[in-house]
Amino acid sequence: MTLRLDGRLIGLGVTGSVAAYKAVELLRLLRAEGADVVVMLTPAAGQFVGQLSFAALSRHPVETSVMDLLPDGRIGHIVVADSADALVVAPATAHWLGAMSHGLSGDAVTAACLATAAPVVVAPAMDGDMWTHPATQDNVARLRERFGYTIVEPELGPLASGQSGVGRLAELASIVDAVVDAVASRPIRAPDPAMRPPRSDTPPRDADLEGRRVVVTAGGTREAIDPVRFIGNRSTGKMGAAIATAALDRGAAVTLVAANMDVSPPTGAQLVRVASTAELRDALIALESSGESGYDVLVMAAAVADFRPLRAADQKLARDGPLILELEPTPDVLAELAGRARDRAAAGSARRPILVGFAAETGALDRAADKLRRKGVDFLVANDVMEPGAGFGTDTNRVAILAADGSRQDLPMLSKRDVADRLLDRVVAALDARRDEAQTSRS
Ligand code: CTP
Repeated sequence: MTLRLDGRLIGLGVTGSVAAYKAVELLRLLRAEGADVVVMLTPAAGQFVGQLSFAALSRHPVETSVMDLLPDGRIGHIVVADSADALVVAPATAHWLGAMSHGLSGDAVTAACLATAAPVVVAPAMDGDMWTHPATQDNVARLRERFGYTIVEPELGPLASGQSGVGRLAELASIVDAVVDAVASRPIRAPDPAMRPPRSDTPPRDADLEGRRVVVTAGGTREAIDPVRFIGNRSTGKMGAAIATAALDRGAAVTLVAANMDVSPPTGAQLVRVASTAELRDALIALESSGESGYDVLVMAAAVADFRPLRAADQKLARDGPLILELEPTPDVLAELAGRARDRAAAGSARRPILVGFAAETGALDRAADKLRRKGVDFLVANDVMEPGAGFGTDTNRVAILAADGSRQDLPMLSKRDVADRLLDRVVAALDARRDEAQTSRS
């Protein structure tokens, strides 16, 4: 299974309907399909939902006016029009349909639709009588027939007025499907990020991990040979620190299990220092049963030693001849924790954490899918540490995120902070899906 909008840029236009709050969830769903999303609001939409949630979740400044210029002087809605693979207007009010069908480009959403060659998907939402009014129906017909727009029709259901009728915004999954169909197999219009709207430099704090307990392991474990020497690895802890920082910024309660990190841990995280694999394992088992119900997310970014000396000498070994060390494999901590989580879920535990492993490979990432299955994790982040800019100690990384559903998302070379946020986007989507599953099975 692949992500259906991987690498695409989608322009999401939001207009002033009560259903505008649903656009936040739509944005999340589009991102969970791998899309880069930039949001445009009409002035009325801004009165229903604040820009902050959209800016935080999209990682792009929000376009709110036709007068908006980007910091580099480009015109915001034109950049969206020229680079987006599709525009989706959801919810679209009766007023907006009227303005659009007459080409009145007074807001960023109509202006982008007028200026674009990309397919446009429109999901109206309004009162039932407004929807059936001939004016609205004529406008919709014109958008569909004359402009070639896809209309995702509103559905029957309770409306904001308290009445029931046809006017409810369509199911978000149907809107996502319509966007996927509209984009179909067209080539990506602007693969070069420089052609797209700029990303936010410092993403505003986003609360999508609020109330969640996130445990991140970082650094590399060391296995004692004798009291002064050890077997270690080159991990500095930068990737784990970036994930912990990103999770904190997104509102999570973060515990950082730090194994010999070279970089400073972020302030705000609860710190547990460990040295060896055995200590790391004990710390994680303790965290599993701490608090109400352990943690919601575990990200194993630490490079865990695969072998350790069978016996560590209790005195410093003297250099009095050749030395042969006998090594034994370390316990697979992540696989053990995944097994324990499965057992707890089978025994009826309500909370099943999302587990993320990392796999530092040298060369092709062919073994990664097998590793994900073997470890029993939800996501495996694989990278080739031999690639320049993608290994230990660098500030950047190029990774592929493999998921338990068999999908693989290849990310471009990004800063470790951006890798962290892209990973957390997937984690948040998985947490939400698990919560919805649990609610459905209870009802
Ligand atoms: N890991 C672990 N316990 C170990 C070894 C690794 O929990 N004893 C975790 C790492 O933190 C990482 C993931 O498992 O998140 C993958 O680590 P990796 O070393 O790539 O996997 P291995 O099981 O060692 O597989 P192989 O030796 O075949 O590469």
